[in-house]
Amino acid sequence: MRFFGKPKPAGEIDFNRLPRHIALIMDGNGRWAKRRGLPRTAGHAVGAENFRKIATHCKNLGIEYLTVYAFSTENWKRPAGEIETIMGLLERYLKEAISQMERDRVKMKVFGDTSVLSAELQALIAKTEEISQRFEGVQVNICLNYGGRDEILRAVKRYAEDYANSMAPELTEESFGRYLYSADIPDPDLVIRPSGELRLSNFLLWQSAYSEFYVSDTLWPDFTTQELDQAIIAFQQRDRRYGGV
Ligand code: FPP
Repeated sequence: MRFFGKPKPAGEIDFNRLPRHIALIMDGNGRWAKRRGLPRTAGHAVGAENFRKIATHCKNLGIEYLTVYAFSTENWKRPAGEIETIMGLLERYLKEAISQMERDRVKMKVFGDTSVLSAELQALIAKTEEISQRFEGVQVNICLNYGGRDEILRAVKRYAEDYANSMAPELTEESFGRYLYSADIPDPDLVIRPSGELRLSNFLLWQSAYSEFYVSDTLWPDFTTQELDQAIIAFQQRDRRYGGV
């Protein structure tokens, strides 16, 4: 674990100051598998299982929004078999979620261009989003065929279309935000990136303007609920100034 030279944060989670929204880059599945002499796809399967564990933990802690990076607009460059495995895991997860989300009161949304996904996946996504409209609760956002730049470009195009034949009102950060996948939800307070890379990789570019970052060397399949707690404790020790003093 790395804390940029700072000692491992000690203490306990302050439940009065929880981050409302945590965003997670589930990185390191391939390396996790390679170290064990397994195919990369095995890493994704364990990674998907870990996502379930961490999402449940977030819900139990009282985190209101969890956004995870499952497949980026750039991930299509991967071998076909690996893409198929990831899509299969997502399909399986959505099927399970449909049967449980009402009971668990978990809302789900997919951020990304879903139009190019399989008909089966698109139908599952539509179903989960329809169920989600029926109740209030914890919200899990799955970024699928998602890219931050792509999201911003799409928002610009949709805005231009909306006002093609009428006078556009003044564009503000707030009104622009309504054109993003994340419309109506708060920006992430905390962005977590396991597996040691120190980059954003086109994840939530607009929304993470003032997010706190937590990076760790742990590969995603090994990322535990205890480490998530550590990330929250570290977050609670930061001084968020939003450009002020
Ligand atoms: C990054 O690790 C991981 C991905 C691109 C895929 C993430 C997908 C899942 C965890 C499975 C499906 C998700 C859900 C929500 C059920 P990497 O492959 O880039 O790892 P590496 O950097 O070690 O090669």
